[in-house]
Amino acid sequence: MVQHRLPMLPPSDEVDWAASVNGNAISTRVESNAILLDVIRDSLGILGTKRGCDMGTCGCCSILIDGSPRLSCLMLAQEADGCEITTVEGLSEGHHLHPIQETFTECGGSQCGFCTPGFLVVISALLEENPDPTDVEIKSAIEGNLCRCTGYQQIVDSVKEASGILCRGDTVENSTEPKSDPHPGFTG
Ligand code: FES
Ligand code: FES
Repeated sequence: MVQHRLPMLPPSDEVDWAASVNGNAISTRVESNAILLDVIRDSLGILGTKRGCDMGTCGCCSILIDGSPRLSCLMLAQEADGCEITTVEGLSEGHHLHPIQETFTECGGSQCGFCTPGFLVVISALLEENPDPTDVEIKSAIEGNLCRCTGYQQIVDSVKEASGILCRGDTVENSTEPKSDPHPGFTG
């Protein structure tokens, strides 16, 4: 039979792949040229991480690799083999959301929400390293994340509110009200 379309990627071998994803040890097989974003969303079914531009310009696909923000659309899965991966689903502690998740809601940091997971993971890394960032430091941290809705000031306000919670010495667990299910549908 004649094939009427070109394959997008050449076929590739599968390799073993293992990582800690949101604290869960994952062991699977991936194609050697698999993109990390595809593995997270399509193979592992962890859908909080969003696919925006697929070319490194929007920040929607941001995740943490060993605590540092990375664009998962620009990484081969193999580059994260053996690493600790955190997606937006991994920011909460049990039934308690991370303060930045809570203050995004309170301050209007999220509207349509498509960019929000990327902002949240990048900001959580900023606050982990610097719990009391200046406006300039906040804007610098989020300069790789694009939002078409909020105008950004509400996002900066959300970070400052979350910073206030963390600077009062509150842990994630005692700074937010418990939710029955912070991430409905997420089983990982
Ligand atoms: S989807 Fe990765 S930067 Fe836009
Ligand atoms: S809230 Fe809509 S793109 Fe940011």
